[in-house]
Amino acid sequence: MPAALQTRALAKRYGTIEALRGVELEVGEGELVGLLGPNGAGKSTLVKIAVGLVHPTGGDATVCGAPAGSAAARASLGYLAELFRFPGWYSADEVLLLHQRLAGSNGGEAERTELLRLVGLLDARGRKVDAMSKGMQQRLGIAQALVGSPRILLLDEPTSALDPAGRRTVRRLLEELRARGVAVLLNSHLLSEVELVCDRVVIITGGSVVAAGTPAELSRARGVEIETAAGLREFPDATRDDAPHLVAELVAAGERIYEVRVRRTSLEETYLHAVGEDAT
Ligand SMILES: Nc1ncnc2c1ncn2[C@@H]1O[C@H](COP(=O)(O)OP(=O)(O)OP(=O)(O)O)[C@@H](O)[C@H]1O
Ligand SMILES: [Mg+2]
Repeated sequence: MPAALQTRALAKRYGTIEALRGVELEVGEGELVGLLGPNGAGKSTLVKIAVGLVHPTGGDATVCGAPAGSAAARASLGYLAELFRFPGWYSADEVLLLHQRLAGSNGGEAERTELLRLVGLLDARGRKVDAMSKGMQQRLGIAQALVGSPRILLLDEPTSALDPAGRRTVRRLLEELRARGVAVLLNSHLLSEVELVCDRVVIITGGSVVAAGTPAELSRARGVEIETAAGLREFPDATRDDAPHLVAELVAAGERIYEVRVRRTSLEETYLHAVGEDAT
């Protein structure tokens, strides 16, 4: 099975701006990958290349084995652009109908109903886009991307306008998609969200990958803290594996233990370090 998305030495230059400088990225079948990076890092450029909207100046990208931009590649993906706007006079149902026509989907009414249900807009199917909140429009945007049952979803900041409840709706939706084997590349600035939902995280800055791994791998260990009757004892170089031994030693020395904490850096700290914005 080819990867849902694979880029090799992917490069893009806009005039003198190097938006991507040789990016190697893979999204496996059914994998949920978060793409993080500061403004201007090249996230949207990478997604637009995968969609076929932008041509790379170096390297290549494939979608489910087909060259990005080809009909086969486009048929395998769903895309939600960063700054999108649907016609204000269309109802939610009409927006999906339009995209069914564009995507050549024959899912009909049943597909539209299922997608509106998935994004929590079933009760608003007749509502005009102009009368929808930003969050509703964003959820409609996600439904639109799912028309035609794509193998991979490319979502460019799909939750930027959502309130916490809307984000949770999208998070559950992403989990459901994963259960169905749909791959997702999620561009986001919301680290906590990416941490909660993604199998793997890739951090890019200045057009290059600077860190990649599972959220757990990227939240590095940062010592063990043990609360004893005598006060807090800190072991900054210890890892989780050291904890039982440290506790045994303290108990043998007559200490009373109240709590043991293995400290980890948050994904946020790792991110800020990777993009060179940490305070140290
Ligand atoms: N059409 C374009 N013409 C010229 N430069 C562009 C174009 N599109 C993007 N760029 C530049 O390429 C770089 C990467 O932009 P891109 O939009 O991919 O970043 P991003 O990571 O998506 O940022 P953000 O988080 O702000 O959405 C930036 O320096 C941007 O100014
Ligand atoms: Mg962007």
